[in-house]
Amino acid sequence: MAAGQRQRLDKILARMGYGSRKEIKKLIKEKRVQVNGEPAEEPGLHVLPARDRIEVDGTTLEYRPYIYLMLNKPRGVLSATEDKSAEVVVDLLPSRYRALHPFPVGRLDKDTEGLLLLTNDGRLAHRLLSPKKHVPKTYYAVIRGRVTEEDVEAFRRGVILEDGYRTRPGDLKILRSGLQSEVELTIYEGKYHQVKRMFAAVGKEVTYLKRMSMGPLLLDGRLKPGEYRELTEAEVAALQGIDRPGSDG
Ligand code: URA
Repeated sequence: MAAGQRQRLDKILARMGYGSRKEIKKLIKEKRVQVNGEPAEEPGLHVLPARDRIEVDGTTLEYRPYIYLMLNKPRGVLSATEDKSAEVVVDLLPSRYRALHPFPVGRLDKDTEGLLLLTNDGRLAHRLLSPKKHVPKTYYAVIRGRVTEEDVEAFRRGVILEDGYRTRPGDLKILRSGLQSEVELTIYEGKYHQVKRMFAAVGKEVTYLKRMSMGPLLLDGRLKPGEYRELTEAEVAALQGIDRPGSDG
């Protein structure tokens, strides 16, 4: 999807949400699509999206090779692009975004809320999820049971999960300790159900979990569960900073 490469007009329009290839063929036939001021002759016309001016019904396309969305994932929705029976995070987006084929970067459990990045930038997703990058993820959690300084110390050393895996050190902060405790935990890896399993390793149960940040990206407190917004340029640049050579950790 490089901006500097020639691409088929119908593919570009499909990716930008102008309908199926068949619908786009019709748009072109009806002379509603113009390239550099001339009606496009055929769907297979090759254009340079970053340079050629493409208009549909007189509106110039803003060429965006990639889309980056921050979602406050609600409980009860799967971190997936499709599922036979359950609602998935992509279902929460309007068709203009779905047409760009975003996918969730990593997974939150069905009952977990909070920050989920959706993008169609596979390279960035790969880097963010790479175990080599140790991208920090911070969670707010409610725990059944009294979380203690011993737990903080155990997490700092790394705990042994039920399958024998010793986690990397995690930073546990106690916000409130009681029969029900509130904590903030930052981890630097992303094993399946990691936060729940880390608390299980010290004999406690997570009753509520919400991701607050991932690397430099913080959940926007204005987003209610189920709401989303595009990342700002600064947020995208900060995420791409993880990409820089030498940031392998
Ligand atoms: N850890 C978990 O246990 N669940 C999540 O959804 C994310 C991290």
